[in-house]
Amino acid sequence: MKSQTSAPGKIILFGEHFVVYGIPAILCAIDRRVKVTSEKIAQKEINIKSEIGKLKIPVSTPISQVNSPLKPFYYLADHISRKHNYKDGIEITIESEIPSGVGLGSSSACCVAAAGSISGLFEKASKEEILKLSIDAEKTIYPNTSGADCTVCTFGGIMKYDKKSGYAKINSQSNFELVIANSKIIHTTDDVVSNVKKFKEKNEDRFLNLCKNEEELIANALENLKKNDLIGLGSTISTNQKYLEAIGVSNEKLQEMIKLADSTSFGSKLTGAGGGGCIFALTDHTNTKETINKLSKKYECFSAKIDFKGIDTF
Ligand code: PMV
Repeated sequence: MKSQTSAPGKIILFGEHFVVYGIPAILCAIDRRVKVTSEKIAQKEINIKSEIGKLKIPVSTPISQVNSPLKPFYYLADHISRKHNYKDGIEITIESEIPSGVGLGSSSACCVAAAGSISGLFEKASKEEILKLSIDAEKTIYPNTSGADCTVCTFGGIMKYDKKSGYAKINSQSNFELVIANSKIIHTTDDVVSNVKKFKEKNEDRFLNLCKNEEELIANALENLKKNDLIGLGSTISTNQKYLEAIGVSNEKLQEMIKLADSTSFGSKLTGAGGGGCIFALTDHTNTKETINKLSKKYECFSAKIDFKGIDTF
């Protein structure tokens, strides 16, 4: 029997970096997915196949002995097998439509889809159970993950997240589209986050002010989302980009992409840690094509819509 689950990627619409210091962020699932297929096998090994590599490990190997970017999937197979007292092997195949390492939640979407798919070999797990498993799995390689990415990949839609109160789904009827362009500069979230920490330590007052401004901006953005006011929302997106520039996480290439995107869209900003990764532009049916035409002359880009489904088991 094969068990298949897919999960969407995500972008951060507002609030990256400031969220680390307690300000809310707004995340949105996108209709680009990861599909994970699992199957029980007679050989006593966990066999993982993905575009980033392959891993074959004997069952019951202690997790501390696994050193691979595919470690979260071994963790899931091992943990779930133990729970069900299953002693044979599992083959896990990961197929992704989400570029990795550029802030589009590919790692979280893989963890969520793998948790759903491997669980499905034994039982029908709830979304909450799958979410918990996926966060634990992602922590094996990113110990400081907030869990926000896995949450939006599990439930889909638009979500407000802050460190204190966790996540809250935003019931918006928004019909916006996004044009996402990839700078192809791979970023390391931890490095960019620690540079922001240094900036904060050197510029305490300025940083505090920016946090206040960001918090007001998020309140504004939530109003615009409720009203489906794309012009207002685009303007809050552009303002958020300015705050990200102020804390030093943008760069020349990203600025160039933003300038191009702004000429046809409602507004654009970098998404995720910055220092590279992706930008997105807010569009609708009137300007998506024009924005893609502009950006695709120089950059890899694609359009996306909000994914309202979250994980999907089939
Ligand atoms: O680039 P990503 O998707 O890993 O996003 C990082 C978001 C930060 O706010 C910069 C860090 C965090 O842990 O929230």
